[in-house]
Formats: sequence, structure tokens, C-alpha cells
Amino acid sequence: MSAFLRLEDIRKSYAGPGGQTEVLSGISLDAGQGQTIAIVGPSGCGKSTLLNIVGLLDRPTAGKVILDERELTALSDTEAAKVRNRKIGFVFQMHHLLPQCSVLENVLLPTLAGGKKLPAREFQSRAQELLERVGLKDRMQHRPGQLSAGQRQRAAIVRALILQPVLLLADEPTGALDKDNAEQIAELIVELNRQEKMTLIVATHSMELAGKMEWRYQLTQGVLRQSEI
Ligand SMILES: Nc1ncnc2c1ncn2[C@@H]1O[C@H](COP(=O)(O)OP(=O)(O)O)[C@@H](O)[C@H]1O
Ligand SMILES: [Mg+2]
Repeated sequence: MSAFLRLEDIRKSYAGPGGQTEVLSGISLDAGQGQTIAIVGPSGCGKSTLLNIVGLLDRPTAGKVILDERELTALSDTEAAKVRNRKIGFVFQMHHLLPQCSVLENVLLPTLAGGKKLPAREFQSRAQELLERVGLKDRMQHRPGQLSAGQRQRAAIVRALILQPVLLLADEPTGALDKDNAEQIAELIVELNRQEKMTLIVATHSMELAGKMEWRYQLTQGVLRQSEI
């Protein structure tokens, strides 16, 4: 049986003034359903590049991403966009909420794309239920500008989860927050993973957040090594 998520010898090079630079030099990883993984490493080591490839926002130079027995790296751009919408959730360092929409509207945005999993009414109640779970019950009609940084990141997490992704990718999700908020968001992500049971990959500088994941890998010089700490 193959793993739920499998990365096979992922490589990524960028063309630069001095020729090609290889950022990822053969990344292989197996993750089970619901498993939690941290990717740690210094700025510029390739964490975002790797997450973007796993989440189909970017293509590798070589190698395969296989999710639920489907080779995602073999899909056309149109098919990849569909899979990304239905199966993968993203949380970034910056919330990327639309300023002119309410929190609830922001959370429901991904449901407007085609191929709906649930009727609109059920998405609405899932959105409300998730917003309640993350402590935003009385902020649903607020605009992002009327929320604190921590609340905005909570809303962004709910938006990432609204379509019930089987894979959640979080790229420095606590990187823009103060210590207390970072701690709360870290706990929230872990709690939601337990409830929703999606496979979770977190790229982070924070050893505190990384410490909450079941598996930790260090990304150094283009390769992943299981981390002791
Ligand atoms: N589009 C791009 N073109 C050229 N180089 C890039 C591009 N994106 C990232 N890089 C380079 O790849 C390396 C890894 O970047 P990144 O994945 O953002 O690292 P991290 O997220 O760990 O900070 C950096 O050296 C960066 O300059
Ligand atoms: Mg990054």
C-alpha cells in the first residue's frame, strides 16, 4: 500500500544570472492520512518552494507528488486547479483575506468555485460552526480590517478548511504574530487537525510550533532529514 501523500525525489531549480540553482535536490517523503509534519529550516532553504509544489501552486523540475494514489504532478493545469480547490487547503504567513468582504464572505469564497461538495446552505452552516470553534462567533460580519492579527489568521484558517481538504499546508502560519497569538494559533491548528483529520504539513521557523507535530524534518541544502528536536 502506498502512502496517502508521497513525494518522490522532488527537485526544483531556478535559472539565475550565474546559471541554474538547485533549491530542492531530491525530496522524498511519505505521510499517512491525518499525520502531522513540520518542515523546519532557515529562511531561503526552500520551505515555501516545497509547499508550493506539494500544493500545486508550482511545478517541480523533476519528481512526483502523489496524493491518494493520484499523481498530481501529471495533471494538466486545469485539473490541478480542481484538485487544489477540492482537496488542499493553504494557510500563509499573511492572511490574504479580501478587505471589502466580511469574515463570513471571505470564508465562503472557496465554495464559489465549481464542483461543489455540499449545497450552499450546508457550507454556510459549516462556516458558522468553524468560525464559532475558532472563537469568531461574534466577528462573522466584521471586515478583516476590524479584526486583530490573530483573529484574521483564525479566519484564514477557517477559509482553508471550509472545503474539507484532505491536506492542509501551512507556510509560516504564526510568522507574523506575537508570541501569545502564535501560541494560540499553533494550538488551534493542532486541535483542528485532530477534529478534521486532514494530513498537515507546516513550514515554520518556530520550534514551538514544530514541536507540536508528530514528525519533524529539517530542510538543509535541498534535502530533508528527520530532525531530532
Ligand atoms: N521564482 C523564483 N525564482 C528564482 N529563485 C527563487 C524563486 N522562488 C524562490 N527562489 C529561491 O529559492 C530559495 C528558496 O526560497 P523559499 O522556498 O522561499 O525559502 P523559504 O521558504 O525556506 O524561506 C531562495 O534562495 C530563493 O531566492
Ligand atoms: Mg518561506
